[in-house]
Amino acid sequence: MKVAMIGAGYVGLTTSACLAELGHETVVFDIASERIAQLRKNHLPIYEPGLDALIRRGTAAGRLLFCNEISAAVGEADAIFLAVGTPTASDGAIDLSQLEAAARSIAPHLKPNAVIVIKSTVAVGTAARIRETVARMRGRMDFHLASNPEFLREGSAIADFMQPDRIVLGCDDPEAGEVLETIYAPLQGRTTLVRTSIANAELSKHAANAFLAVKIGFANEVANLCEVAGADVSAVTDAIGLDARIGRAFMSAGPGYGGSCFPKDTKAFAHSARRLGAPQGVVEAVISGNRDRPVRLAARVVDGARLRRGDHVALLGLAFKANTDDIRESPAIAIANALLRAGMRLKVHDPKAARNARKVLKGDVEWCIDPVEALDGVEACVVATEWSEYAGLRPRDIARAMAGRHVFDYRNLFDPAAMRAAGLHHHSIGRKMVKAEGGHRGKMTEAGALVLPQNAAASQA
Ligand code: UDX
Repeated sequence: MKVAMIGAGYVGLTTSACLAELGHETVVFDIASERIAQLRKNHLPIYEPGLDALIRRGTAAGRLLFCNEISAAVGEADAIFLAVGTPTASDGAIDLSQLEAAARSIAPHLKPNAVIVIKSTVAVGTAARIRETVARMRGRMDFHLASNPEFLREGSAIADFMQPDRIVLGCDDPEAGEVLETIYAPLQGRTTLVRTSIANAELSKHAANAFLAVKIGFANEVANLCEVAGADVSAVTDAIGLDARIGRAFMSAGPGYGGSCFPKDTKAFAHSARRLGAPQGVVEAVISGNRDRPVRLAARVVDGARLRRGDHVALLGLAFKANTDDIRESPAIAIANALLRAGMRLKVHDPKAARNARKVLKGDVEWCIDPVEALDGVEACVVATEWSEYAGLRPRDIARAMAGRHVFDYRNLFDPAAMRAAGLHHHSIGRKMVKAEGGHRGKMTEAGALVLPQNAAASQA
């Protein structure tokens, strides 16, 4: 098949490289001609494991082309995928201006019976609107429309494309369905092709992400309960997750969900549902719980460690999850801002996301090159991202570096007993706080013995 991709962003590039790998002649267009020029030189604007090699293979085989002329990109294509940005406005509505502009730009160049496929995440009813835009421009209805939502996770996008749980093909006429089934035919046998209506397909993307956000939000609320009830959230979610109707995935309690999808998609889903008169109360509650969570977790640091204005706090992790440099909607950044507002001085570290975080995190912030430097002399430490290098820190080394004793382990990376034995107060998610052995509070010497503050030593004597 001949395929065109409008938009060389994260979804557009990954999908194009994979479509070329499946054997389709794929042409990628982007309104940013500089981006196309860079791609022709094999310079990728994003990082995704394996994408570089896949693009090289596609271009070497002549199946993947980058083009900055819309007529040439679209003119011969059987299917034109639209994968442009659909950001959310502050009220949660989706801003469709890029999608509308892309539809207008392809309209004059479509060959008769071409299928326009919406890949961008949109609210239900959007395809119908795009159909009207294109029909108005062409003056006739000699094209088809389809919805084919993406379910790619950053960091594993290629595997998610090649071995998906399902592929949703939303088409309201058989011609569009046949073209899409032909495109995905090489994956048949590996996955389920769900052929359904356009409205069902549009809703299935938003509903899937909203449901996953609800699972995380639910686990976080159960975690709050476990903390006061003396239970352990991991044990509870492990136990209920064994019920096949529930499942353990996406129930790890933490500082809240972030990233470019869940926060945006839940808000857009709730907004469109409210507009259509079917409010999604469950999702709305999860959105507000997730918004407030980092602020509550920051307050727990200040109260739990009895911090005063001007105290130093180490923040380990800035990315919204491990193995990415993405800080969009990161709970770590929200915690940092709340601590800064409370008058704390931050020492921060992240192995990949510091460069991006520097652009948004302003105030009394010291940027550290390794976690031990961040811990040096601080009153309290917060672990906000589950990087494996933090999990590998030895409790004794943490205790030795810090001036205070309080560690707020918001990704549950450390063993509470080991932290306690190292002389640290361990505050984690969904478990009672575990006090340091002997309740000591003082800086460790090089040899690892506790040096108690004068008054504490006197009161112990
Ligand atoms: C997500 C969806 O998984 C993907 O299908 C969709 O197309 C795009 O959005 P992504 O944003 O890359 O992918 O990250 P994901 O791994 O899903 O994590 C999202 C957020 O939820 C992260 O902040 C993560 O820390 C958090 N999370 C995830 C939890 O707090 N607990 C969990 O159990 C799982």
